[in-house]
Amino acid sequence: MLEVKQVSKIYEGKIVYKALNDINFSVEDGEFVGIMGPSGSGKTTLLNMIATIDEPTTGEILINGRNPHRLKKEELAKFRRRELGFVFQDFNLLHTLTVEENIVLPLTLDGKKVKEMKEKAQVIAEKLGITSIMNKRTYEISGGQAQRVAVARAMIHVPKMLLADEPTGNLDSKSSKDVMEMLESINKNERATMLLVTHDPQAASYCDRVIFIRDGKFYSEIHRGDYRQAFFQRIIDTLSLLGGDGHDLSQIRV
Ligand SMILES: Nc1ncnc2c1ncn2[C@@H]1O[C@H](COP(=O)(O)OP(=O)(O)O)[C@@H](O)[C@H]1O
Ligand SMILES: [Mg+2]
Repeated sequence: MLEVKQVSKIYEGKIVYKALNDINFSVEDGEFVGIMGPSGSGKTTLLNMIATIDEPTTGEILINGRNPHRLKKEELAKFRRRELGFVFQDFNLLHTLTVEENIVLPLTLDGKKVKEMKEKAQVIAEKLGITSIMNKRTYEISGGQAQRVAVARAMIHVPKMLLADEPTGNLDSKSSKDVMEMLESINKNERATMLLVTHDPQAASYCDRVIFIRDGKFYSEIHRGDYRQAFFQRIIDTLSLLGGDGHDLSQIRV
């Protein structure tokens, strides 16, 4: 599904900064992979490159054997819209639109018929338990509901891969748990491949595997096995070995 090959990223500017250094890993179809590391370790940089929002300085990223960075601008936009779904910490919903209008936004961009869009939105809203808020504005709903709406919008295309950057970062623990259970069920039932950047060990414990990075370099990787609780403990242990603050408090996405 996804291959990250010897990827490095250098931010050029007044100060040249190597944010990622020779990262290698691959993700199988249907896998649920977490990425953890201290604040500033390069998690968002890595996800943005996989999301095709940004390009590696050296190395290559292949999605289903194709390098999206080689596509022309319009093809890339289409590829991104159809093959990938995104969920962010700050939900990224449009406040002038209703919940339903937010959910169907990717279909609007593809010029789909209104009836078809409404039907699809209804199906996904039922799955995510948000049918009762479809006509509300985004400022009338809770953070947990807003993140469900963001997941619905990301999933309405049935993308092959969902990329989430700190999706529970702004949620209380109950809402975090709901969102993680929802992502887990989408992963299981729709066979969507998931990549989750998080600093929250509880959220990461829903993954099949967690990759740890530090200072832009691969640090280690652990697999879940049968027991989520034991996995949770191993994640905490690895984070304490990893050092750093372990928390990503930065609200600013660059
Ligand atoms: N556009 C940019 N220009 C320069 N430096 C950047 C840019 N984006 C991120 N960085 C730097 O790269 C490092 C990794 O950032 P980031 O990927 O956001 O880390 P994380 O998501 O793990 O907190 C940080 O030191 C950050 O300051
Ligand atoms: Mg980040």
